[in-house]
Amino acid sequence: MINYVDPARVSGLSVRTITGGDSGDRRVHIAYPFMAGAPLLNEKLRRTVTGWLDRFTRGTTGKPSTCGSGGPTGHLGDAPLIRPELNVDWQLSAASDQVIGVRLRVGESTGADWSQVRTTLWYDRVTGQALDSTGLLRDAPALAELAGLAGRKLAGTHAVGNPLAITPEAALFDSLAFNPRGDLVVEFDGHQVTSSPDRVAVAVPAAEIRPLLSATGARAQRAATDPASAPPPTPVKTAKETFGDAAAGGLPAESSQAGTVDCARARCVALTYDDGPGPGTRRLLDVLAAHRARATFFTSGGNASARPELLRRMMREGHLVANHTWSHRDLTSLPDGKVADQLSSAQYAITRVIGRPPGLMRPPYGAADGRIASIAGGMGLAVVRWSVDPEDGPPADPRIVADRAVARAERGSIILLHDVHASAVGATPEILRRLRERGYTFVTVPELYGTGGMRPGGIYDSGDDQGKSGKRITP
Ligand code: NI
Repeated sequence: MINYVDPARVSGLSVRTITGGDSGDRRVHIAYPFMAGAPLLNEKLRRTVTGWLDRFTRGTTGKPSTCGSGGPTGHLGDAPLIRPELNVDWQLSAASDQVIGVRLRVGESTGADWSQVRTTLWYDRVTGQALDSTGLLRDAPALAELAGLAGRKLAGTHAVGNPLAITPEAALFDSLAFNPRGDLVVEFDGHQVTSSPDRVAVAVPAAEIRPLLSATGARAQRAATDPASAPPPTPVKTAKETFGDAAAGGLPAESSQAGTVDCARARCVALTYDDGPGPGTRRLLDVLAAHRARATFFTSGGNASARPELLRRMMREGHLVANHTWSHRDLTSLPDGKVADQLSSAQYAITRVIGRPPGLMRPPYGAADGRIASIAGGMGLAVVRWSVDPEDGPPADPRIVADRAVARAERGSIILLHDVHASAVGATPEILRRLRERGYTFVTVPELYGTGGMRPGGIYDSGDDQGKSGKRITP
């Protein structure tokens, strides 16, 4: 097990998000950290993820977006539409005043198969340098020695055809980190050194690896063994374990401050912001506060854990914080257990920050069917999609986003925006001003439904819905 650090404890850390696909053929969601005062790390991270995005985009250009297959369980004759998907999420494998380790997990599918690779980048705060994993090692002979050590360890525990096949290539040793004992954990992606599609990892004991480390490597090893960087609690895997029988039995969805607006009388719309918190979220909250408008934030678990102070501010100011899964995978492409993990990990992360379990979830890309709704319902979550998409993805002009939102809004609309997109943040003052002129009131999603409430497991696209279930949409 690699050491992981709770990102909320690292000051100056925020998250950058690149998304696409709510209305397109490809699913793209990339989240990666951004460190104040670490320009070379930020640049290396940005170049790494945009490199993956470019390759994915080129590789999927011109391919048909439909790819019929039996797909995961639960589709019962309704063959899912599988779209190419790229997903990047991250963890901190170390963080001290001397060093930061960022582990990126890249999942990709261009059809039915999902493949995943991992890369760990390092930043040395003493020298200001950003390094690949092999930068933890003293020199090329040290890498050769590590390859030999890893090969022998692996041969002892896994069915490796030929341990000598583990050559001292930087590409093979691109994900190195330490466990809390100071052992170096070498991760290999599926098919790299074994015939298995699964990741394999070996730990080289602290004392054996120490002479092979560079100065940065020694700092990284110290950071991992420092008790101050103990890992956060492991996410609990099921809603029932996390929240007890109440969640499994279905808690009613709730606003943070419901009941102040009667949408049976008022002309209500619900502004919703997905994928954050992001770089513009603080400014967005200022705008909403200035206009006395409430909104619903569908936050991803990874971003929520990194920016807990923003979630707490949302709740304090009367907004609703809701679940947008842990890492934004297309849930309809995942088996039941993985769907539950995506939801419960985010549920746990958000609950830990705001002190209550969210009652709403939004499926990434709007992709939900009866199976997803029923798993969400089992965790006390209603499924919320949208009725108005002003298409705020880059490079949208904020004025055009505002025009589209205003033109398409009607009573009971659920409007899809993204606080990770500068265009949405920029458009919001204009949307608020013009819709208010037309007599609209801005409420959280559950307020649209008043005393009728929302049902866990119901699917809601607008205020007119009674919580239909089981119909698949393809945005
Ligand atoms: Ni999203």
